Amino acid sequence: MLTDQFGRSINYLRLAIVDRCNLRCTYCMPENGLPWIKQNELMTDEEMLRICSVFTELGVDKIRITGGEPFVRKNSIGLIQSISQLAGLTDLSITTNGLLTEQYIPLLKKYGIKSVNLSLDTLDKERFFKITRRKSFDKVMKTLDGLLQYGLKVKINTVVMEGQNTEDIIPLVMLTKELPVDVRFIEEMPFNGGNNDISLKWNFAQIYNHIKNHFPEIQKIDDPKSSTSYNYKIPGFTGDVGIIAAYTRSFCGDCNRIRITPSGILRTCLYEGTGVNLKDEIRMGKTDEALKNIIISSIHKKPKDGWEAQKLSLTTSQIHQSMATIGG
Ligand code: GTP
Ligand code: 5AD
Ligand code: SF4
Repeated sequence: MLTDQFGRSINYLRLAIVDRCNLRCTYCMPENGLPWIKQNELMTDEEMLRICSVFTELGVDKIRITGGEPFVRKNSIGLIQSISQLAGLTDLSITTNGLLTEQYIPLLKKYGIKSVNLSLDTLDKERFFKITRRKSFDKVMKTLDGLLQYGLKVKINTVVMEGQNTEDIIPLVMLTKELPVDVRFIEEMPFNGGNNDISLKWNFAQIYNHIKNHFPEIQKIDDPKSSTSYNYKIPGFTGDVGIIAAYTRSFCGDCNRIRITPSGILRTCLYEGTGVNLKDEIRMGKTDEALKNIIISSIHKKPKDGWEAQKLSLTTSQIHQSMATIGG
């Protein structure tokens, strides 16, 4: 098992397979001008698979495929199939915006995908267009239907923003009444690839109080270990409601995760600017053993509390990185 110098076990890899996206969510990226990774800098399928294989041999048992939008990558489904066959992997999950996902649902089911986290910030077509700058609401809703029809575990991710989608909070909670779907409300983080300031009026407490006002019977339920969300249930409802205090809370204390960017950089923390480039190491001819040693020593140095260390520059820097280039 991989552990860092503070005794945290690292068993969860977030693999961003592409930085590009077919939406332009305002909280994530500008309409134009992001410096996309060049084709030769993007890891090949073979490189991604090899890195995943090395990590599973080191004890990683959960991989979440992220992006950008994963299904924008050519042959993403083939790559997902190959990763799903790795020995030692008990949880392969995906975070997607749902635009291109519907056609792959039967295969996702076949490959044993554990959960699909679907980004959906509103149930209103017009607001969807304002937030994502694209008219694709119907496609996402069809994907949601399809995922539920096939019995896949679905968690909806909703970034809550003042003046944009706060009217959607209660309708989204209502979705959990009949449907086996969890909805998680996320505090906005300043990772928008531009200089947009975030208001963070809708922090954890505000979101919670708003839901509690409508559903005074709301109950706290147990959170899985290293969960990003605080989880709740409205008695009698099928799905759960979660709040991810992504901005006001540090997940660092019991963090079990690391990230690989589409160009192969191992980021041991969401807030870490850089790290060793594993693709470059592969292209230099490193053996699996050598890769393992590089990974073990990088993870050993995982920061104790990256959020504390970065807070000041995150809140004051002019241009923030896009979430799509970090991999969520
Ligand atoms: P599961 O626990 O496997 O369902 O996934 P997740 O909630 O970690 O992943 P998902 O991709 O659905 O991300 C949900 C939100 O949590 C996004 O806004 C992420 O940016 C945020 N998030 C994920 N990991 C971290 C983290 O380490 N720190 C912080 N602050 N936010 C994170
Ligand atoms: N703040 C919080 N969450 C974000 N996401 C993207 N950008 C941000 C941000 N600036 C979320 C998306 C997606 C998940 C991977 O990250 O909603 O569901
Ligand atoms: Fe694309 Fe997700 Fe970023 Fe929206 S939040 S632009 S869907 S990567």
